[in-house]
Amino acid sequence: MTTATSTLHGVDLTDPQTFLDRKDDLVGLWQEFRSHSPVHWHPVEGRQVPGFWVLSRYRDVMEVYRDNKRFTSERGNVLATLLEGGDSAAGQMLAVTDGRRHRELRNLLLKAFSPRLLASVVEGVRRRADRLVREAVGRGSCDFAQDVAEHIPMATIADLLGAPAADRDYLLSLTKQALSAEEAGQSAEEAVVARNELLYYFSELAEIRREDPRDDVVSVLATATVDGKPLTEQEIVFNCYSVIIGGDETSRLSMICAVHELMEHPDQWRRLVSGEVSVDSAVEEVLRWVTPAMHFGRRALTDVEIGGRTIRAGDVVTLWNSSANYDETVFDRPEEFDLARTPNKHVSFGYGPHFCLGAYLGRGEIHALLTALRTHVAAMEPTAPARPIHSNFLHGYSSLPVSLRPVTGDRT
Ligand code: HEM
Repeated sequence: MTTATSTLHGVDLTDPQTFLDRKDDLVGLWQEFRSHSPVHWHPVEGRQVPGFWVLSRYRDVMEVYRDNKRFTSERGNVLATLLEGGDSAAGQMLAVTDGRRHRELRNLLLKAFSPRLLASVVEGVRRRADRLVREAVGRGSCDFAQDVAEHIPMATIADLLGAPAADRDYLLSLTKQALSAEEAGQSAEEAVVARNELLYYFSELAEIRREDPRDDVVSVLATATVDGKPLTEQEIVFNCYSVIIGGDETSRLSMICAVHELMEHPDQWRRLVSGEVSVDSAVEEVLRWVTPAMHFGRRALTDVEIGGRTIRAGDVVTLWNSSANYDETVFDRPEEFDLARTPNKHVSFGYGPHFCLGAYLGRGEIHALLTALRTHVAAMEPTAPARPIHSNFLHGYSSLPVSLRPVTGDRT
């Protein structure tokens, strides 16, 4: 074993604290994995599995994402569930279903994500982002995470699902508790209670929409049939949950990180506001650089050889987007934040059969935010340190206090 490999053996990727302790050096840490142990065995103690594989190279990550024959999501798709032995929504919720049922559910949900339905949702995102940024600039300072970013994705998803406006704060607080443990110390039991409350909420809403369908995800799921059979109650509520869980925090953290990174890189901010780089390409670089969902994972169904090592049937395999997006064999100068980067084939939305269903919407949200910033903000500065979230799955901040100076002329 080389010295570098043995150093990597001390890194605990199951512990959120690792990502806080190494936050200034994560790019370097992943570079070490890629060059010294690209297909790395990470032991764990006291769990249902003895350990898991850590894939850090772009090509290996893509290979597993692409292959839902030899690798399954049905026994969990993030470390937390994979290490506990599975996901209770397996075979019913899109992200943790494979094979024919996955295709059927995905095709149904794609209807709810059709350009026709999304056009008005995206228009709502633009208006909301513009108003929130304008108001924050008017006040001169804000906590960008709590005063701006928090109010965009959940309202967007509520529009998409067709949840009444009055329920949004309630849905947001449950979502936060169900997934993130933003602050260290939130108990696993609290997360389970929040998750159950969300499921109950959607079962009630589905009943209402079955009688009186509208143009929204809950109505599509509540009235859909596959081969003449309606979806089960569980499938309906798990897939509503999947949209809310998949779409809220990832987008929120992307927007918060976008502002954080633009303040850290004033040269790039200038390129954005001057129009030297397009908002479209800036969105892609924000997604690559931030990599809001750091990893996903699978279980191997058969023995598979990757990078000269044998992954055994039943092994847990984790795919580190946060490393693949910085792979020097794919990205030129990956450690540079370059809003004009092209090509930019990042894996922030995954790849293959489970490619993010909300990618268009996620992009639309970041686009709306960057457009609002360049329209209304002349300069932004941190007024206190950002507070990073406590997670080995998502990357970002729960608090980002900033001061915002308004644009004096018209920059539109
Ligand atoms: C799947 C990331 C926004 C809904 C995924 C996957 C990734 C991802 C990496 C693949 C998971 C896997 O392979 O196991 C992101 C990021 C987002 C974002 C970084 C924001 C910047 C959204 C939004 C929605 C959404 C806005 C919905 C409104 C979903 C769903 C899946 C998914 C339902 C499962 C797809 C399937 O299994 O077929 N997302 N996502 N995501 N995402 Fe997103």
